[in-house]
This record gives sequence, structure tokens and C-alpha cells, in this order.
Amino acid sequence: MNFENSLSFAKTLDEQDPLKSCRDLFHIPKVNGKEAFYFTGNSLGLQPKTARSFVEQEMKDWEMYGVEGHFKDSKRPWMHYHKFLKDSLAKIVGAKPIEVVSMNQLTVNLHLLMVSFYRPSKDRFKVIAEAGAFPSDQYMFETQIKHHGLNPDETLVELKPRSGEHNLRTEDILSAIDDAGDELALVLLSGVQYYTGQLFDIEKITKKGQEAGAKVGWDLAHAMGNVPLSLHEWGVDFATWCSYKYLNSGPGNVSGIFVHERYANDATLPRFAGWWGQEESTRFEMTKGFIPMSGADGWQLSNVNVLSSAAHLAALEIFDKVGIKALREKSLMLTGYMEFLVNELSGNDNIFEVITPKDPASRGCQLSIFCHKNGKMLFDALSAEGVISDWREPNVIRVAPVPLYNSFEDVYHFARILRQHIEKI
Ligand SMILES: Cc1ncc(COP(=O)(O)O)c(C=O)c1O
Repeated sequence: MNFENSLSFAKTLDEQDPLKSCRDLFHIPKVNGKEAFYFTGNSLGLQPKTARSFVEQEMKDWEMYGVEGHFKDSKRPWMHYHKFLKDSLAKIVGAKPIEVVSMNQLTVNLHLLMVSFYRPSKDRFKVIAEAGAFPSDQYMFETQIKHHGLNPDETLVELKPRSGEHNLRTEDILSAIDDAGDELALVLLSGVQYYTGQLFDIEKITKKGQEAGAKVGWDLAHAMGNVPLSLHEWGVDFATWCSYKYLNSGPGNVSGIFVHERYANDATLPRFAGWWGQEESTRFEMTKGFIPMSGADGWQLSNVNVLSSAAHLAALEIFDKVGIKALREKSLMLTGYMEFLVNELSGNDNIFEVITPKDPASRGCQLSIFCHKNGKMLFDALSAEGVISDWREPNVIRVAPVPLYNSFEDVYHFARILRQHIEKI
């Protein structure tokens, strides 16, 4: 597509957009009384207009039925609430329903999955991760490794981009797996890197890690609902994500996990258990002896947080209707348009550069703009004009045009405002 830098061109793209009506399904925040240019769906997605009524339904059922709401009387009996989310989540990650469940928070789930899939021995103990992983993941790695009595400096292999580059090359990840060889116990990377927006080759890396005899897991915080995934087909061992970014479930809302079907009935895998993972038919017998549910459900610990899961469910209904394929098609155009406009601005001035991969197949919607000078000043100026984007120290502005609710016009205005402020630098 030959993009043009004009409002009329952006408006034409919006008119032709088959998903243009989706924006109306969301509340768009206001800044100074005007609709904001919201580009932070990579941090917190917007509120679906249906979310309130979904939550109110559960408030009402609680009001009407008290504890009986767990069972037959309520609209969606709470006892089974996690099941209402399952099919939609499975579709989004390319899994069978038995392989997914929504539960806990992302960092909690990373720890729980490490319990099952990081089983270091004297000879096989190394973990491959990306240098500069999200801090929560870094603390998780450090404390998990120490928990096994190992030294993180000797155990964690942190992959850095080559000097002068911002992204990891797939070939370098594969050769790090070769280098770790028989000592490699686990590869755990993010699907989309939170700082650069790089989308990793999940299929290739998973295959290579498993050929080396390691388990391979993925933190999909920034990939979930952003890029198409085929976790089952790719043979991924395990994955986890959060729902409050591209899935629009609301602040701090529930995470989810994927555990490949090959482990569905593997009771030998060590795990930390709780009553919600106990075989449903005997759960309320309150007897000794943990018998896990088949599939991902067997990793659940606690009963479901229904009030917040209701908002998650409301948002998933939208995903069911639109589908990740259509979202990706628009996303490629929308992010491509933003890249085109931003690149036009950066010129040769060296004020900033986009560090997200240029290849659309190696990124989701987010672009990370690395500022060579006055980055924070630019960011503050954008914020003052109603652009909600996100600043990451030391010098990156992250912007995520989200295909569900951002328009091409939003993107045009972002670049217009950016231009005005660059001219002042
Ligand atoms: C890549 C990544 N990992 C982990 C987390 C932590 O998530 P939570 O607070 O839900 O545990 C985040 C949060 O944004 C994240 O982006």
C-alpha cells in the first residue's frame, strides 16, 4: 500500500476499514474534554461498553442469591465461571480448550509454571531468557533459580542484541540454544518484547529448544490478542499472559495459562496445587490426596474471581465476533501507516528512530520510538495535546495503535502533533 501523509487519506482508510464500527464498542477516555488519542493498549486496553453490565449481572446475582449464585440460580453459575472464558481464549492462542484456563496474575502463573517445567538437575540446569526482560520476569527468574539452590549468574543465559542493534536475531537465539546444549533446561522468552515490540519466531525457537532437550515456555503479555498464535500446533510446552492489555479486561485483571495437551493427564509433573485444580467430581468431598483435573484446569489453585472475570468475558465476546485474523489484517495496515508517518518525520535529523523491527511479521501493533534527544520533553508535549502513550526509561516512547479501537485518523493526528513539537526542538 502506498501511504499518504494527509488527513483525507487517513479518513479514506477509515471509511474502507471493515472494523471501523468496533471503536464504538469502547469507552474512549477524554483529555481536556476531547477524545484522547489513546495508544496505550499495550499497557491497559480500553473498557468495552458491555463490561459494566456483565459485572452488574454478577452483583445482581450475588444480591439475589448469595452463595447459591455458585450453582443453578445465577445467570452464569460462579462455580463454572472460568469455563465461560475457555473457548474464546483457546481461539485467540490457537489451542484446544483443554489447554487453557484463566487464573491468577501473570507473575503468579510464571512461578507456578516454573514449578512444573523448570526441573534443574546437576547437568541440565540453564535457562535462556532475553536480557532486559520485563522486571517482574527478571525477579521471577532470579528467585526461582535461587529457590533451587543455584546461582543466577551461572544459570541464566541472558540474550542481548548484537552491538549497535536493538533486536535479537532469531539465528542468535538458535545458536545460543546450541551453545547451551545438554545443559539447557528451559527457554522462556516473551512472545512480543515489551520494550522494543519485537515478535519472536515462537515456532522455530520452540522446536529448537525442544530438540536440545529443554522445555520451552512463553510470556505472552504483549502478544495475547495482538498477534495470531498457534500454540498447540507449534508444540509450545507452556505459556501465560495477562488480559488487561490487548484483551481489554480491565486493570490488574486475571491472567491465563496454556499447557500443551501432551501434559493434560501427566500427574507426574510436579505442581503446586489448590482445591480448584482438584478433580471436579471429588472437589467437594474434601478428602486427602490431590488428583488434578485434566489439562490446564489442573493448575488452578483458587476459586474464580467472578467480578473481574465478568469484565474479561464481556471483552472476549468482542474478540469472538471480530476474530484475531481480521484484527491482524487491520493491525498490519494501522501500524504500517504509523511507521510510514513517523519515519517521514525522523528524516536524517537523528532526533529519534523506530527500534521495533521493520518487518511486519516480526512485530505486533506496538512501535517503540527511541529518542536520541529531548525524549521526555516530546513525550510530555504529546501528553499535553491529548496523546496517551507510554514512556519507558531511559528514552523510549511506546505507541500501540490497536485495531479494535484506534483509527487511521488517530494515527495521522499522532504524527501531526509529533511534527509540531519536533519543529520546536
Ligand atoms: C512482559 C510482562 N511480564 C510480566 C508482567 C507482570 O504482570 P502481572 O502484574 O499481571 O503479574 C507484565 C506486565 O505488564 C509484562 O508486560
